[in-house]
Amino acid sequence: MRVRPAIFYRYLFLTILGFFCVYAVYSIIGYDDGSHVPVHRPQRHLYLTVSKDRIGSRFEKLAPKRILFWTTIFGAKVSTSLSDCPGLTDRCVIDTNRDQLESADAVVFHAVDIPRFPLPANRKPEQIFVFNSMETPVNSGRAAVPDFFFNWTSTYLYSSDAIHKYGSFLIPTQVAESRGFKVQSFYVQPKRLKKTKSGVFGLISNCHTDSKRELALKELAKHINVTIGGKCASEDGLKSICPQGAECLDVFEQYPFYIAIENTVCNDYVTEKIWGRITVPSIPIVMRRKVYEKILPPKSFIAMDDYRNPREMANHLRALETNQTAYSEYFEWRQRGTWTSAPWNAPGYRNGLCRVCELLWKSGTNGTEPKSYENIWKWFDDESQCEKDEFVRSWLSGY
Ligand SMILES: *[C@@H]1O[C@H](CO)[C@@H](O)[C@H](O)[C@H]1NC(C)=O
Ligand SMILES: *[C@@H]1O[C@H](CO)[C@@H](O)[C@H](O)[C@H]1NC(C)=O
Ligand SMILES: *[C@@H]1O[C@H](CO)[C@@H](O)[C@H](O)[C@H]1NC(C)=O
Ligand SMILES: *[C@@H]1O[C@H](CO)[C@@H](O)[C@H](O)[C@H]1NC(C)=O
Repeated sequence: MRVRPAIFYRYLFLTILGFFCVYAVYSIIGYDDGSHVPVHRPQRHLYLTVSKDRIGSRFEKLAPKRILFWTTIFGAKVSTSLSDCPGLTDRCVIDTNRDQLESADAVVFHAVDIPRFPLPANRKPEQIFVFNSMETPVNSGRAAVPDFFFNWTSTYLYSSDAIHKYGSFLIPTQVAESRGFKVQSFYVQPKRLKKTKSGVFGLISNCHTDSKRELALKELAKHINVTIGGKCASEDGLKSICPQGAECLDVFEQYPFYIAIENTVCNDYVTEKIWGRITVPSIPIVMRRKVYEKILPPKSFIAMDDYRNPREMANHLRALETNQTAYSEYFEWRQRGTWTSAPWNAPGYRNGLCRVCELLWKSGTNGTEPKSYENIWKWFDDESQCEKDEFVRSWLSGY
């Protein structure tokens, strides 16, 4: 029998179309977009109810990665939504049900909360155990864990496998434009750079720090007005200058300089003390230049260690107060728009669990070398290089 070409092609076309439909249906049920599934009942995800053997490894590869958050975060239940991660919402599922250990691709432990829960009784070689903390080593609990327990780190340190930091990534506007990001402006009305008060303002509630910040400020105050509000206020009247929990950005704005020194001075550790006030038209004062150099735009902050001693620093601050041109130079990155912030969930700038998810997908593809950290606390200490009081002591004797 002779088959006419037209019929042959019609059947071929229908067959291919049929395959497409089947594939499309499989893709839809094989995916888990996580967003409209009750997060506390992850076992209802469709792909879990189908035996992995039956779907075949091809579809197993497409199934979302499962991130099991083993602990709480400072005692609080972890949010199981990845809805803030465009492009990844259907790529990972976050789970807090420890009975689901077996099916987890990654298991995350928040450092401070580790002692609250027994460690997993067993693990599969392909499972990634993640060490997580946004806080410095001294405030992360130092819970004992076996050597080589953790495969990845997720901390404020830029050397973490999956960085988890406060605030956004500030980047040159050129870079943002070349990557197609929306450019956020930090422009400030020039009249807001003219100040009604003089000197340095700070809200401080930790009066005794490892770095001896308080001694440095006390010495600085001999040479320039230093106004401290909050628990460690310089005068009783100032204790309540800002109600607890309020941001008081308008108070910060009145002063030409404000104290942004962290309670603990460690590599890469920059918190809301900067990020919560990044839009305030006042110059932040920090302790160690090297911590901020790669995180903030050039000439956007003043570091104590730029000066030999408190008097030299105070002289420079007073010169800035009386020279509007020189003062404004610290805001050039804002006025000229040469720097902006990367969208916090853009590829390459993701943070926290979004980053863990991204990494899980990257690492699966290429037979990445297995890795683990022999002594997680040693790694954390070595990378953080948190300061004791050496700097302040030498600064105070630097006359
Ligand atoms: C310190 O502040 C007070 C009150 O605002 C002001 O009168 C004084 O001139 C300031 N001192 C210096 C050295 O700027
Ligand atoms: C003010 O600062 C600018 C820029 O730093 C400098 O060129 C100028 O000489 C300063 N003016 C005075 C009066 O010191
Ligand atoms: C995977 O391996 C290939 C060949 O070794 C390499 O060219 C490619 O960059 C790797 N991809 C990733 C994501 O590491
Ligand atoms: C994770 O760490 C464990 C324990 O050190 C190790 O056996 C395993 O190979 C590591 N896995 C990966 C994927 O790195």
